[in-house]
Amino acid sequence: MKAITTIPPGGGVKLSQVSLENTKGVRVKTYRTGICGTDKEIAQGKLTFARPEIGSSLVMGHEAVGIIAESVEDSTFKEGDIVVPMVRRPGGCRMCRLGRQDYCEDGDFVEAGIRGKNGFMREEFIDDPRFLVKVDNPSIRDLAVLTEPLKNVMKMEETFQFLRTRIPWYCEDSTLSCKNMYVFGTGTEGLLISIVFKSLGMNVVAVNRHPLSENVMDFLDRNRIDYLDTSSEKLDAKVKDLPMDAAIDAVGAMDVLKEITDNVSNNGIAIMFGTSGQLPSHNFDVLERIVDRNIVVVGSVDGAKNHYAEAIDFIETHGKAMQMDRIITGKYQPEELNIFTEKEKGEIKKVIAWS
Ligand code: BGC
Ligand code: ZN
Repeated sequence: MKAITTIPPGGGVKLSQVSLENTKGVRVKTYRTGICGTDKEIAQGKLTFARPEIGSSLVMGHEAVGIIAESVEDSTFKEGDIVVPMVRRPGGCRMCRLGRQDYCEDGDFVEAGIRGKNGFMREEFIDDPRFLVKVDNPSIRDLAVLTEPLKNVMKMEETFQFLRTRIPWYCEDSTLSCKNMYVFGTGTEGLLISIVFKSLGMNVVAVNRHPLSENVMDFLDRNRIDYLDTSSEKLDAKVKDLPMDAAIDAVGAMDVLKEITDNVSNNGIAIMFGTSGQLPSHNFDVLERIVDRNIVVVGSVDGAKNHYAEAIDFIETHGKAMQMDRIITGKYQPEELNIFTEKEKGEIKKVIAWS
């Protein structure tokens, strides 16, 4: 069958012929796969931790929706069920055994399409039903390709809800309507973060260092999310108007960490999600500010099975009203490999149609 493969960690992408794995499990026909920054980094040989499962080549793809083609006796799935496969698979540590491989203690996990496990950019795959999450509503099968990036946001929300209880962080009317969340980055992950925190009743400001594309501005406007292009407007001026009560970074540049710690309010919460390998453009000291103003800075990566289920629920509940279909800006065939290297005008999320 057709598959998109790479030779990690060197990179490159190629359309290859691979055979179905010879393991026990359910057979899943791939419906859609998404491409994200991680895939582009793998393709460009920039992701140092990318590694094959066996041999030298790795099937790419960690964002997927599939349809069960053949089930096994001891599984609850039946033919035709729509599923989202999980990216990270557990190793042997305590957190992995508890189903929280997103908090793995020793790094002994694998990630489909990224490190140590073949991914989903192929016509079909055999999988362990424990790592498949069901999508009950067939009308969201196209949007369900956003489940994987959205599950990261569901974990961020869980982390945020936990951290904010350290003090009474809510408003005088008990809601979060007086609180401003700044989201750095306006790619798919940044936009998903923005709508999830908007749905909590917060005021959200999406921040980008370059002018935003019309697609992105339109999406943010429709969701009543404020935005700021720091190449033409100053962040500190905006923060004077609308205090930065919390911030989430989906960019991954050290300079953003400085911008956040310089501007976040006392008792603020900062969640760091992005990584990019970029070094800071100058030296800076964030420690005093963090200590003196009770700032909490936390890292968050990946998500657990419950976050996939919450992501599917979010798409079902808010997908239509928040016009999430506008995030998917292009649908391509597996042969169109230039989508890994070329960026189209106004592109947000590109998906590959496998069936
Ligand atoms: C995925 C995460 C994964 C991370 C690091 C992201 O693109 O969404 O699930 O843990 O890459 O490999
Ligand atoms: Zn991804």
